[in-house]
Amino acid sequence: MKRIAIFASGTGTNAARIIEHFTDHSTVQVALVVCNKPKAGVLSIAAAHHIDTLLIEREQFLNGDGYVTALRQRNIDWIILAGFLWKIPDSLLRHYKGHIVNIHPALLPDFGGKGMYGNYVHEAVLAAKVNESGITIHYVDEEYDHGATIFQARCPVLANDTANTLATRIHTLEHQHYSRVIEELICR
Ligand code: GAR
Repeated sequence: MKRIAIFASGTGTNAARIIEHFTDHSTVQVALVVCNKPKAGVLSIAAAHHIDTLLIEREQFLNGDGYVTALRQRNIDWIILAGFLWKIPDSLLRHYKGHIVNIHPALLPDFGGKGMYGNYVHEAVLAAKVNESGITIHYVDEEYDHGATIFQARCPVLANDTANTLATRIHTLEHQHYSRVIEELICR
């Protein structure tokens, strides 16, 4: 069994899809949900599926061991970021090199970097007046939204789009693809 930890801090719609996708899977198990916000929706989703959760604290994550010990104790093989906004510290990158994956709600390398998350991304896309956006699934490295691309999918940006309507279209793409791409990556 390959054991994955989902790191998420928000509503957790992607986490929910991933958890559902791998329920009773033959080779991949969502073993842990890691979160930095005590009231995040993703914690209730994990609880509903009886998945272990780990609430992390900033200082230990960024300047301590990055929770490497806790993750290794739980035999975590892969880290999947789904709406997790803290930068991944070197300690964690060293131990899980090539095994940390992120999803970004735009076509990187455009509209990425520090502070580019959620509707900030969609507002920047609309302000740039581009006619296409999409999702990028990529390996995580030392820089925000920078590691090698694994998969991209595109969707139109419509003339009457708001950040919210674009976000809905992007979420649909994320839900369509993220679990499958993770499965292909881990099971290949
Ligand atoms: C997703 O759209 C994901 O791409 C984005 O956060 C959202 C989380 O939604 N991540 C980033 O912006 C990272 N820079 P969810 O909580 O409903 O899964």
